[in-house]
Amino acid sequence: MDIATVDVDLAGRSYPVWIGPGLLADNARWRTAIRGRHVLVVSNTTVAPLYLDALAQGLDGLRWSSYLLEDGETHKTFANVGKVLEALGELGATRDACVIALGGGVVGDLAGFAAACWMRGIDFVQIPTTLLAMVDSSVGGKTGVNLPAGKNLAGAFHQPRAVVADTYVLDTLPQREFRAGLAEIVKGAAIGDPDFFAWLEDHADALSGRETGPLIEAIARKCRYKAGVVARDETEQGERALLNLGHTFGHALETAGNYSEILHGEGVAIGMVLAAKLSERLGMAPATDTQRLVTLLRRLDLPTQPSGKHAASRLLELMRLDKKNTAGTLRLILWRGIGRAEIVAGVAEDDVLGVLI
Ligand code: NAD
Ligand code: GLY
Repeated sequence: MDIATVDVDLAGRSYPVWIGPGLLADNARWRTAIRGRHVLVVSNTTVAPLYLDALAQGLDGLRWSSYLLEDGETHKTFANVGKVLEALGELGATRDACVIALGGGVVGDLAGFAAACWMRGIDFVQIPTTLLAMVDSSVGGKTGVNLPAGKNLAGAFHQPRAVVADTYVLDTLPQREFRAGLAEIVKGAAIGDPDFFAWLEDHADALSGRETGPLIEAIARKCRYKAGVVARDETEQGERALLNLGHTFGHALETAGNYSEILHGEGVAIGMVLAAKLSERLGMAPATDTQRLVTLLRRLDLPTQPSGKHAASRLLELMRLDKKNTAGTLRLILWRGIGRAEIVAGVAEDDVLGVLI
């Protein structure tokens, strides 16, 4: 099976995203991204027993060790960044050391942030093991941790040296996590690529069935779309904010459910539908496009409306805390239809309530 390569073009900091089956074992390829002698592998207690041995076979001749986090979003903390930095100290990591993140978005975000901090920034390589991490969190250099005050509030932009997306590892990924990753793929198409959206409609059953060929193509197309946005707006001064379609609604739902009711990707799926309905209500987009989005998400077995457990007023209150807002007004990513997302400031709260009720 062919390996797909997507290049993230950032001049002197450009890097490849390799996608395909068997890449973990293809160490001749990914070792080229490691410049020095020291490697710290950061993983977690679920992923390491499955894949650390396979990775270790490629680390022959290097001085390496591993640091394992407990599994779960609640461990994406500053305290654990400190522990990873201590592990780098124990390893005697020099400026040319490399951190390898082996895991989903939680591991990747935290390990990348530790790499950004050690000696003010060392290399890191992302080996994403969830579909969500392959198509979103491992690409683009956003790293960070949660604080008691909110999710992802501390972090840095720190690009990896390479992203190694071995699709074999998805075999052990629970179905619900897999579907959450599909939502992030739909999101890329919904924001800016109508042809890709139509392709997803044609291949929804194959993707649900985890067919390798269509899956690699879908991952590569989403990564290519995101790589283009990141290359144009690495630090989110404008266009990159579009990548948050559905996030303001989704984060409110995630927070209201204490991060235990719905997964991030499920929140994004519901949030995209609410953003489409709001766009419709504001006269920005046709109802037919909302319907196409709902139909595609349903075919992928994703939720398309809030559970009803949380009052609309509570969700609105949480939406007011979003990082994209400016003082006193809601700033949301809405769309003019499939593939045409845009940033809209000054959205009236009554209209938001109108789609939440
Ligand atoms: P996750 O890292 O918690 O992984 C989900 C679950 O799957 C975990 O229990 C994990 O141990 C398990 N797992 C991972 N790979 C597996 C495999 N191959 N087989 C079996 N189990 C496996 O969650 P996620 O959805 O990958 O990432 C969510 C995180 O990503 C959040 O913290 C979010 O803030 C962050 N994120 C970051 C960005 C970014 O741009 N940096 C973008 C989107 C999301
Ligand atoms: N996940 C949004 C971004 O990378 O900008």
